Amino acid sequence: MTDLMTSNHLPGLVQAAYIIAAVLFIIALAGLSRHDTAKHGNICGMAGMGLALVATLALAARQAALPDPGGQWRPWSLTLVVILGAMAVGGAIGAWRARTVEMTGMPELIAVLHSFVGLAAVLVGYNSFLEPGALEEGATAHIHAAEVYLGTFIGAVTFTGSVVAYLKLSAKMKSSPLTLPGRHGLNLAILVGSAGLMAWFMLDGTEDALVPLAAMTALALLLGFHLVAAIGGGDMPVVVSMLNSYSGWAAAAAGFMLNNDLLIITGSLVGSSGAILSYIMCKAMNRSFVSVIAGGFGSGPSAQGGDRDLGEHREIDARESAELLANARSVVITPGYGMAVAQAQYPVAEMTARLRDRGVDVRFGIHPVAGRLPGHMNVLLAEAKVPYDIVLEMDEINGDFTDTDVVLVIGANDTVNPDALERPDSPIAGMPVLEVWKARDVIAFKRSMATGYAGVQNPLFFRENTQMLFGDAKERVEAIVRELS
Ligand code: TAP
Repeated sequence: MTDLMTSNHLPGLVQAAYIIAAVLFIIALAGLSRHDTAKHGNICGMAGMGLALVATLALAARQAALPDPGGQWRPWSLTLVVILGAMAVGGAIGAWRARTVEMTGMPELIAVLHSFVGLAAVLVGYNSFLEPGALEEGATAHIHAAEVYLGTFIGAVTFTGSVVAYLKLSAKMKSSPLTLPGRHGLNLAILVGSAGLMAWFMLDGTEDALVPLAAMTALALLLGFHLVAAIGGGDMPVVVSMLNSYSGWAAAAAGFMLNNDLLIITGSLVGSSGAILSYIMCKAMNRSFVSVIAGGFGSGPSAQGGDRDLGEHREIDARESAELLANARSVVITPGYGMAVAQAQYPVAEMTARLRDRGVDVRFGIHPVAGRLPGHMNVLLAEAKVPYDIVLEMDEINGDFTDTDVVLVIGANDTVNPDALERPDSPIAGMPVLEVWKARDVIAFKRSMATGYAGVQNPLFFRENTQMLFGDAKERVEAIVRELS
């Protein structure tokens, strides 16, 4: 074993392992793009990461195993122990969080994890700057300095941006946008200031370059905070995927600083897939990427529905709902965040099975940003074994509502709000929604008349063909299942 560790073949073997790991990551991404291959994709991703860890540890162990010329204290042995200790502690915490996190808490957890990547990139940046030999002359030194500066910048923006996203998603901070006067000017000033500091940092070439590096870090932390604080309500899905992308670029920057090819490849994969996801989200929300970054969406006088008189809502109970469903020819279920909170997917799957047994045509309509993370509803329905072929995307089902007898809106709100299409001054104007109000009857499952995530009242609940079924979605659906049996 010691022979292998000290052998000159080991670095080559590690590079080969890195290439295999990179291929496994690409297969993982391809697998994750479809329901039926997602599990396989996850397994490939885990295998790739396992291989990458073993290869990196082998490199560290090699440093520790190499003969020590001066018989001095060997810092690499200590480093190896510290790495293994950190992995054990981090792995235990990660396994515990992954086991205990609720599906509805996933976006917050992801935001926290992104913040770790950002912080790691900042620390790697400072470490690369402070390590002996980092200030050597020549072209490589300049390239290294640029890597340190940009890696630290991206990492710092990702760090505070992700912390704010975590606070907003977990409702520890108001989700409405922070719209400071001259906010675009502030962002621009920070960017220009950071560019100026970069020139100072690159030209200095001495230990004093720590001053512009530290000043830029403070500015970048402020920029991350301000960018995400300025993004409100309905745009949060894009923010989550945007930070995902930033964290990938931060990891790639760390890879350049550490001269680690696998980190560069993995970071670039995360960075570009996050960017593609942000683009898809923007399209789904009918928003331009620039307008999302510029922020301010979800504010304004009509954010709560203003003083509009929306009229009276009507109520229905579980028995009447069951009757309406049993006599329907076609039913569409549009689930939202409330179904996830209530964990109602299992009774929903059972109700679907019973209605289909009675010959009712039941389908699901999934809005691209329903719930709190991309694909949230699809995952829940798959977990409850609802057949894939009756789960349709918004674009596939939107034309069919005029032909639908009953729509069950289960814990959805913003994603079925007609104001998005009908009121140009609505904070969610322009966002495509499921046009459920075109059906003959709509039953909305909710606990109260409270607003949804974007903080906007929903006139759907006051329409003549809508009836409210109040209570916890799981209990209400279970009551309907009992009535149907
Ligand atoms: P929301 O607009 O968030 O509304 C959810 C509704 O569920 C609420 O009106 C709530 O009303 C109801 N509810 C909560 N708990 C319930 C329970 N136990 N039983 C029954 N109802 C319950 O839902 P949506 O239509 O899915 O829209 C998603 C929103 O989240 C969009 O604004 C989207 O932009 C945003 N967002 C999405 C993502 C991603 S990537 N999907 C990420 C971040 C934010 P009551 O309180 O009255 O029960």
